Amino acid sequence: VEGMEKTKRAPVVSVMGHVDHGKTSLLDYIRRTKVAAGESGGITQHIGAYHVETDHGMVSFLDTPGHAAFTAMRARGAQCTDIVILVVAADDGVMPQTKEAVEHARSAGVPVVVAVNKMDKEEADPDRIKNELAALEVIPEDWGGDTQFVPVSAHTGLGIDDLLEAVLLQSEMLELEASPDAPAKGVVVESSLERGRGSVATVLVQNGTLRQGDMVVAGSFFGKVRAMTDEAGKQVKTAGPSIPVEILGLNGTPDAGDEFFAVADEKKAKELAEFRQTR
Ligand code: GTP
Ligand code: NA
Ligand code: MG
Repeated sequence: VEGMEKTKRAPVVSVMGHVDHGKTSLLDYIRRTKVAAGESGGITQHIGAYHVETDHGMVSFLDTPGHAAFTAMRARGAQCTDIVILVVAADDGVMPQTKEAVEHARSAGVPVVVAVNKMDKEEADPDRIKNELAALEVIPEDWGGDTQFVPVSAHTGLGIDDLLEAVLLQSEMLELEASPDAPAKGVVVESSLERGRGSVATVLVQNGTLRQGDMVVAGSFFGKVRAMTDEAGKQVKTAGPSIPVEILGLNGTPDAGDEFFAVADEKKAKELAEFRQTR
């Protein structure tokens, strides 16, 4: 179709791994060092997803998908992750939730990049991590396999740029594409009611471009997008493929994993939302 050309899009990455292996610390480090502070006095709002510009291209991170959310989204058929960063603490090794994450990624057909974290610790033993993951058939590239292992520290920042580079290299191989000119569609990452703002939903645009003023359906709710903000709390007018944004204006709070899409008018939106309510 004319005007519907596909263009390259950024990878959407979920960070998974065993409890306390450093998922949140890693995301926080990247957010702190790579996301420009907003205009709201440098106060970074929490949003469940964010994107960063690197020297090698853009990457979007989903912050919420712990295993429960990832599983819930998959159960709803929402494939929202292109690449999994599997965090394994180098001083601890492969643990039950590490194995679970490998299973999740494998059954979703999503490639894994391993972040061998806590390399700043004296007890860090990256070879042990390689051995234990190889036993699960996650074979390091330098052992003839196809998985990149990147030693990192979420505390010192060691290896974080290499990790982002590894993710973008993996992304190149996936040849991810989308049509920015199409009507927006994507997935709800999280939503809540906020005093003075009403329904606030973080959505990830997967295809098309979402614009302020668009009429959207999200799960069994609908509304006109009154305002959009990025992860730094900055107002934006549009969000293209792989970009997460907070939107105001829905008449309720859809669930994580619900799909959202732009429609022509309010009548259509109401019809579709009501239809979804009765299911
Ligand atoms: P859950 O969300 O509870 O599963 O944990 P998590 O994987 O998000 O781990 P989190 O980031 O909360 O880190 C757990 C602990 O490990 C915290 O005390 C962190 O400060 C510490 N930690 C995380 N990364 C590093 C690291 O690179 N080096 C060191 N020394 N400690 C780290
Ligand atoms: Na923790
Ligand atoms: Mg955490």
